[in-house]
Amino acid sequence: DENYKYRHLNQNQMPVKRLPDALIIGVKKCGTRALLEFLRLHPDVRAAGSEVHFFDKFYHKGFEWYRDRMPPTLEGQITMEKTPSYWVTRSAPKRVYAMNPGVKLLAVVRDPVTRAISDYTQSASKRPTLPRFEDLALVNSSVGWGGSPSVVDASWPPVRLGVYARPLRRWLRRFPRQRLLLISGERLVADPAAEMARVQEFLGLKRVITEKHFYFNSTKGFPCLLKSESRSTPHCLGKTKGRSHPHIDPRILERLRDFYRPFNEKFYQMAGMNFRWP
Ligand code: A3P
Repeated sequence: DENYKYRHLNQNQMPVKRLPDALIIGVKKCGTRALLEFLRLHPDVRAAGSEVHFFDKFYHKGFEWYRDRMPPTLEGQITMEKTPSYWVTRSAPKRVYAMNPGVKLLAVVRDPVTRAISDYTQSASKRPTLPRFEDLALVNSSVGWGGSPSVVDASWPPVRLGVYARPLRRWLRRFPRQRLLLISGERLVADPAAEMARVQEFLGLKRVITEKHFYFNSTKGFPCLLKSESRSTPHCLGKTKGRSHPHIDPRILERLRDFYRPFNEKFYQMAGMNFRWP
């Protein structure tokens, strides 16, 4: 009968939109776009191109709205989406769990000091009048404190977002450790194929993304793609990825490193992985 025929066809042949099987939940400025673009090289992965912001901004629109933002997939293909603000959205772990308790989570992390500079550089590119990084990163306590501004401003978002332990604890209250893959932003640059091997294994994918897909573009200073689904010629991520950073006073960098050290140690413990940030 016709109905049966089409139902059968729909299950096996026709691409349909599905809720995500896996999410890149963060962290902002750690290499989330690179991870998503690299994953899209895989024929069994389909991802929404732009950030959907469902679990932070548009949750009230409901799961049907969310599903409609997804690309159509065939049975067996993985549906994905990346929105880095999920990492620090308090209600996100619970909401993601409500969508699919078996969802796989990926988060890229990077030395919080370079992450903060990257975050600042992005803001400064939109606001040329933004004060210097050094002036924003420290609370100026010069009045009455012996003259030297000395306290790291832990509430300044570029600094605060680099404290990874607290959001990680929130996600791990809801999801088992083995369902969340932490990816090194540094390794994603230094050895993208090796890091992508871990990612493909975690997602249960055949290892299709390998050394053959990447070349190091020395002008840009980053790995770029030889070819991808949409383009057959070599190309890098856009101009807004891999910006050059301003020179920062090394004494300020040292202050920031001292500030992050205990948080990083805590994070390595929880992650079960030592990222060896300086
Ligand atoms: P910078 O532009 O400050 O160097 P996100 O995509 O999460 O916003 O992260 C942006 C960061 O991804 C960039 O920060 C860059 O360091 C990093 N990145 C990692 N791999 C990259 C690649 N292949 N090309 C460009 N940037 C890459």
